[in-house]
Amino acid sequence: MTMALMIEAESKNEHPTPIVSSPDNPATVESTAVADVPQSPQPTEIDAGTVGQVRTADPFIVSENIDVYYGDNHAIKNVTLEISSSEVIALIGPSGCGKSTYLRCLNRMNDSIESARVTGTITLGGQDIYSKALDPVALRARVGMVFQKPNPFPKSIYDNVAYGPRIHGLAADRAELDNIVHTSLERAGLLKEVIDRLDEPGTGLSGGQQQRLCIARTIAVNPEVILMDEPCSALDPIATARIEDLMDELSNDYAIVIVTHSMQQAARVSKRVAYFHLGTLIEVDETDKIFTNPQHKLTEDYITGRIG
Ligand SMILES: Nc1ncnc2c1ncn2[C@@H]1O[C@H](COP(=O)(O)OP(=O)(O)OP(=O)(O)O)[C@@H](O)[C@H]1O
Ligand SMILES: [Mg+2]
Repeated sequence: MTMALMIEAESKNEHPTPIVSSPDNPATVESTAVADVPQSPQPTEIDAGTVGQVRTADPFIVSENIDVYYGDNHAIKNVTLEISSSEVIALIGPSGCGKSTYLRCLNRMNDSIESARVTGTITLGGQDIYSKALDPVALRARVGMVFQKPNPFPKSIYDNVAYGPRIHGLAADRAELDNIVHTSLERAGLLKEVIDRLDEPGTGLSGGQQQRLCIARTIAVNPEVILMDEPCSALDPIATARIEDLMDELSNDYAIVIVTHSMQQAARVSKRVAYFHLGTLIEVDETDKIFTNPQHKLTEDYITGRIG
């Protein structure tokens, strides 16, 4: 399939909904050998197991057999996925397929949802993030999150960025804090626009500037991973392009996991793409491969707009 076809399909795919009903039995998760790539997608069933490349050569975040339940709702089914320390991986799939739920597993944000229950293991650099010994607040400094709607604190621009370094005691004095704030704003591509108004409220910035402020706030605590849940869906194309450029730069230093409904965006920013369907990780592979030669019928149906 050509990129043009994919993009045309995307325009029909704004709010895709699943067409296949979910069986109860969870998927088995195993990589399929890449050597014998089929001419056209072979597996058609949701429980055929994850196809493609769930393993990486240098795994940093390792999810093994993750299930998430909200009460009786089995929202994530036996997901196994490895992510390396400096890659951008995009999570795509129809609305309600579990992308945000899986993303929130990676920094234990589901802990705050009373009905949510997570099973399986997730390690970050070899450390079990669900260990009782691990402080979730410290974890969230290592695994930062940027949300769909920019959510600056009702504080000054300076204090938004200084907030994390202050609570984690990262600066010995004001000069050091100033330096962290300036460097973070610079890296987020916002410093020039706000240098003369650091004392003004963060909420007074434009949407795109607010999102860059939230990114500056996230990177101010030196995270190892940045999770982004549809970070550009409220932004215009210019602000979106700025965030995408930023992701490209940041990916040298951080693992970035981005949820996006835009397949064009996934194609532009990511190295790998993971396709979720009704809570199951159907396929994960190099971005080009997913968009030009998907192995699973459900992936092909989604990227060509047949699901949606
Ligand atoms: N806080 C919650 N409490 C109960 N159920 C939830 C909660 N959040 C999500 N769910 C359920 O879990 C399933 C997966 O939802 P999730 O939000 O992860 O999907 P998504 O792929 O991010 O969808 P979208 O693209 O619309 O954001 C859905 O059935 C949803 O109703
Ligand atoms: Mg979501």
